[in-house]
Amino acid sequence: MLIEHEALRHQWYPVAESTDLGIPGAETPIGVKLLGEDYVVWRGPDGRAVAAPDRCTHRESPLSIGTVADGCLTCPYHGWTFGSEGTCVLVPSSGEGKPVPPKAHLPTIEAREAYGLVWLCPGEPHGDIPTISYDENPEYRRINTGVDVWKTSATRMTDNFLDIAHFGWVHRGTFGRDELFEVPKIDLDELDDGWYGYAYEVEVGNDQGAQSSGQTGDTVHRRMTTGMHLPFSVRSTIHYETGLDHIILLCSTPIDDTTSYFTFVVWRNDDFSVPAEEIITFDRAIGAEDKFMLERVPGVLPLDQQATASVQADKASVEWRRRIAALVNT
Ligand code: FES
Ligand SMILES: [Fe+2]
Repeated sequence: MLIEHEALRHQWYPVAESTDLGIPGAETPIGVKLLGEDYVVWRGPDGRAVAAPDRCTHRESPLSIGTVADGCLTCPYHGWTFGSEGTCVLVPSSGEGKPVPPKAHLPTIEAREAYGLVWLCPGEPHGDIPTISYDENPEYRRINTGVDVWKTSATRMTDNFLDIAHFGWVHRGTFGRDELFEVPKIDLDELDDGWYGYAYEVEVGNDQGAQSSGQTGDTVHRRMTTGMHLPFSVRSTIHYETGLDHIILLCSTPIDDTTSYFTFVVWRNDDFSVPAEEIITFDRAIGAEDKFMLERVPGVLPLDQQATASVQADKASVEWRRRIAALVNT
């Protein structure tokens, strides 16, 4: 099983949006699943996200159906309450201020927030959350788009997001067109911010994408880069001739071997006049086309390169498979 590789436990994965944890005064715990394990996440007393196995230390109730008040999570079964770093601060049956058994504390895992997303790392972090420096640039706005569940493997998703040979086929309903069938020669190189991938130029269909591209023609020219960051992040940068940049972070998180969270985050240096919802409608429709295709491909993408045939157009995904295979086999 892919998710059983120990090395994957030491990487960061987005599992929810920061807003899913509620707003001050109305915080809520959430239940998420990562690499086959259930976790509860809530916002602790200092405002930071806290994550632990979704299992009360007393009688194993899911804690994600509990409540949060003042940053403390209360189990719905007997009211044991957990504060920062999972410390058990109250066992109501013993009375307030009474000592709690050492085993009452929750074994928390690493949790961080970045780009409007909650990221978890079940083990000791060896990797890092990918850098998107546009996030710190006030000329760019960030648009979060929600977290969806795809019935496919994170390996197939990452392979797909690094691949442009499917554009003309899978994306007929959005930007795909016959001219995209043939893929220009791909040269891999270091990109900015630690991303690794390739640059290319394309003329894509624009019929339904005017809000996204800011242009009205039938087609629109894009200078693009596609880059990878282990284990399953892909960044796509789109530069239009008008000076408009549209950056997309595509995240695939393994819930289990063949189910994954999908979320994407967009950064744009536009004039902020078009509502975010309208801008991401086009990207959502593109994602739905990928989802439709991938949910029809069974199983996990074999990391053994010999198991499937690849061509020049697959150069980036072949390199990503080489890297992820090296990571999980360490
Ligand atoms: S199971 Fe959580 S308090 Fe008893
Ligand atoms: Fe796609």
